[in-house]
Amino acid sequence: GGVITVDPGYKNTGSCESAITFLDGEKGVLRYRGYSIEELAEKADFLEVVYLLIFGELPTVSQLEKFENDIKENSLVDDDVRKILEAFPKNAHPMGVLSSLTSALTAFNPISVNIESQEDMYNAIVTILGKFPLLVGWTMRKKKGLHLNYGKKSLGYVENIMYLMFKQPNEEFEVNPIIKDALDKLLILHADHEQNCSTSTVRIVGSSHAGLFASLSAGISALWGPLHGGANQAVLEMLEAIKADGGDTKKYMAKAKDKSDPFRLMGFGHRVYKNFDPRARIIKKAADEVLGDLGISDPILDIARGLEKEALEDPYFVDRKLYPNVDFYSGIIYRAMDIPVEMFTVMFALGRLPGWIAQWREMRLRKEPIGRPRQVYIGENQRAFKTINER
Ligand code: CMC
Repeated sequence: GGVITVDPGYKNTGSCESAITFLDGEKGVLRYRGYSIEELAEKADFLEVVYLLIFGELPTVSQLEKFENDIKENSLVDDDVRKILEAFPKNAHPMGVLSSLTSALTAFNPISVNIESQEDMYNAIVTILGKFPLLVGWTMRKKKGLHLNYGKKSLGYVENIMYLMFKQPNEEFEVNPIIKDALDKLLILHADHEQNCSTSTVRIVGSSHAGLFASLSAGISALWGPLHGGANQAVLEMLEAIKADGGDTKKYMAKAKDKSDPFRLMGFGHRVYKNFDPRARIIKKAADEVLGDLGISDPILDIARGLEKEALEDPYFVDRKLYPNVDFYSGIIYRAMDIPVEMFTVMFALGRLPGWIAQWREMRLRKEPIGRPRQVYIGENQRAFKTINER
């Protein structure tokens, strides 16, 4: 073989060719299938974006209708899935629960493993798109101690997600249009981001021809970490901690810059964006609007704004091109929607699901080979074995 070069973190190594998401980190540009994120966030519904990402084109009315119906046909789960959920302790982290339930679905839908045709692939895709909102809703209801309900077929995809999460017993459910629009936007903004840690995980697990749900479950685990999707929870906990500590943002800026202190300004910095994360720009505006429309004034938002302003003027952040990323303001909106902090990364997963699916589908349709990186060995040379008494 040739010489192997190591690129820790794959900072400069391409893993595939992809026609799904375009990202220019220097200019702060993000497009799904050629459409700008700004335009999609403003004009599209989440389900249209789901279709666009997976199949490459915006759907026509009849294509969308069929897609939505196929998803709705798959919106129930076997009652044993409920038993699995019930067996988790109430304080289990929802990301662990979600990844386990997603993996467990394989047992009830073995078809998702042996993908032999485009039809198998389509069926696996609408199955998980149908069941995932239920898993998310149930994970949250379990946390809140609410009974586990099924969705409502008369509702649209995002409205149904809200129903699954927020429906209170003995109360009429009404869709709050402010929350619906904000949720739609947040899900669209999270829907894909090319070869990030969780997406690369989905592609590499899927490249062994493990099933779709197993690949997605691995992606959920990757997303959980605080350097990736877990950052949205970490941001809110950081903002809370700063508030509890008297709101001294300067003190935390100093900690973030201190190399002997492991503290990082959560929600800042990105591997690819060396300019404003375009998603953060949209989310910041949405946070202002949603809180305004709901009549909420949250001191946490002021702390976030203060930190951002200081960071954007601070040479440490300026020199390293560290800007607020997608996770910096999203938690403030989730909080205004009454979603528990531990659920924030689950909301990210709900949004990222179509991206993972699209990337997995592309990888399978392109018949990509199994992912198998190389290494440079730096361990011991050949050694003679010593029995335990000789050591
Ligand atoms: N606070 C303080 N310093 C930082 C931060 C931060 N948030 N991010 C990067 N740096 C510094 C880092 O210490 C390094 O400094 P130096 O060159 O002096 O050693 C320099 O900036 C480059 O950072 P890096 O860690 O080499 O960059 P990376 O590309 O490996 O990491 C990152 C990217 C997103 C993991 C990192 O910026 C980070 O940890 N940010 C905080 C967590 C976060 O917000 N993650 C969400 C990412 S966006 C979407 C998502 O995936 O969820």
